[in-house]
Amino acid sequence: MKHYTSIHDIDHIQTWISEALALKKHPVKHHALGKHKTLGLLFFNSSLRTRLSTQKAALNLGMDPMVMNVSGDAWGIEFGDGTVMDGSTAEHIKEAAAVVSQYCDIIAVRAFPTLTDKERDENEVVLNAFKKYASVPVVNMESATAHPLQGLADALTISEFSKKARPKVVLSWAPHVKALPHAVANSFTQVMQKMDVEFVITNPKGYDLSPEITKNVPVIHDQKEACKNADFVYVKNWSSYDQYGQILETDRSWMITKSLLGQAKFMHCLPVRRNVVVEDAVLDSQNSIVLHQANNRTYAAQLVLKKLLENL
Ligand code: CP
Repeated sequence: MKHYTSIHDIDHIQTWISEALALKKHPVKHHALGKHKTLGLLFFNSSLRTRLSTQKAALNLGMDPMVMNVSGDAWGIEFGDGTVMDGSTAEHIKEAAAVVSQYCDIIAVRAFPTLTDKERDENEVVLNAFKKYASVPVVNMESATAHPLQGLADALTISEFSKKARPKVVLSWAPHVKALPHAVANSFTQVMQKMDVEFVITNPKGYDLSPEITKNVPVIHDQKEACKNADFVYVKNWSSYDQYGQILETDRSWMITKSLLGQAKFMHCLPVRRNVVVEDAVLDSQNSIVLHQANNRTYAAQLVLKKLLENL
């Protein structure tokens, strides 16, 4: 594996889950592997979990992490080819990625979508530019369309909590006050397609994810019907894909409640807005496994970094 930018980079999910669980059991066993290796973490957007768990993963492997908030702290980066750079951007990605590659053995990047320019977002302009112009492996810490570190941690969490050979997993849309990306829902959908689970998606009409992501996963527009007999309900807001980046009429009744959840485990990538996305009674209950998910972010990132280090 040269880069980790998509769930498609996972060749065999069950093997990866076993390897991640082994790292969770013995987090510093491979501390020598990353000695004198540097991980550069470049953030174009805010983060709490990704920022800290990926650094923790690097530290567990003996790596030295270097973190930079690109938006604000670095020179404005130009991604266009042949642009006359007489505007706000001061440095081209060709130089920026090549320079960072001289300081870092692996580069991790977070760059959210515009949610206004579908073509630019789907072309993953920022992430793919780093892949093209960096001379070292690139890790996706959430891009325009994907959050594969989160997806791997989610698969690991379901595997740990599952009491059935083939659990029912529901991805449910929930209301939000802001237009949010599709990345988490996309990567979760892709990783569930690799798992032996009964997987369904539920969202209001107008919020169907890209058919290239959902493929033949059933999409049910009745949330109660979809959540019946669920073992796991993974909750996330996303903006409309068809009316790209728009918030359509928001139905507050899609907020996750204890009665809707039943005995199912509640999952969310965090951060989550209480009593908008999900009621307190769910988040504060034993059914919520969101903190376990967040904890697993470290071991998902650690497994990815370990595989990349072993391939350097
Ligand atoms: N789940 C997740 O990626 O959290 P952060 O945005 O805080 O990194």
